[in-house]
Amino acid sequence: MTKRLTRNMVASYLREIGIDYLPVPPRDGGKIRAAETPARGGGETLEEIREEALSCRRCPLCKGRRTVVFGVGNPRARLLFVGEGPGEEEDRQGEPFVGAAGRRLTQWIQRIGLSRGDVYIANIVKCRPPGNRAPLPEEAAACLPFLRRQIRAIRPAVICTLGAVALNFLLGNNDRITRARGQWRDLDGIPVLPTYHPAYILRNATREHEVLADFDLLAESLRSG
Ligand code: URA
Repeated sequence: MTKRLTRNMVASYLREIGIDYLPVPPRDGGKIRAAETPARGGGETLEEIREEALSCRRCPLCKGRRTVVFGVGNPRARLLFVGEGPGEEEDRQGEPFVGAAGRRLTQWIQRIGLSRGDVYIANIVKCRPPGNRAPLPEEAAACLPFLRRQIRAIRPAVICTLGAVALNFLLGNNDRITRARGQWRDLDGIPVLPTYHPAYILRNATREHEVLADFDLLAESLRSG
């Protein structure tokens, strides 16, 4: 019968022949560096942008809102998610992606070894469109400067857009999400990976493997960057 070599056996053999070192394999499977640590000087902070957004009346969505859903997460996150706009639960709690779709997004984030607190999550529009409809182009146009300023303040290494609305408004294109997902795009030098919206996956579970593949791409890009 063949005897299985254990790490201890190898380590004691190496010691016997005068080698005192056996590298320890990463226990975390190559953990992702979630946030930039060096202090950043210069530009405006997320808090300054939030202050302004909280009193925004640039479009009619302000009339129906309970809260301004500015964004949440690590201000130095290397991974930024962009969704469409707050739904009812988000409008109530003032935080993006806290309903059923949000729980699915959280699972995908955890699957690549990160938590919600490691990443940053924002939307194209910060106020809830009535009846959860998609934001109108003029609403998106009024709100996008906030998101662009958030991106400049955070300086993420990678952006992931969730669904067609986020993809089309953030990048100013008409790409179909079924074709664009999993294909890297560029926003002012920042790699952008479009994937499906979690609410779409809740209704179309057979496509979830495509999102999981996209999250593997995100993880790979964060590990190598
Ligand atoms: N859907 C979105 O696009 N954004 C949210 O914040 C919640 C649901």
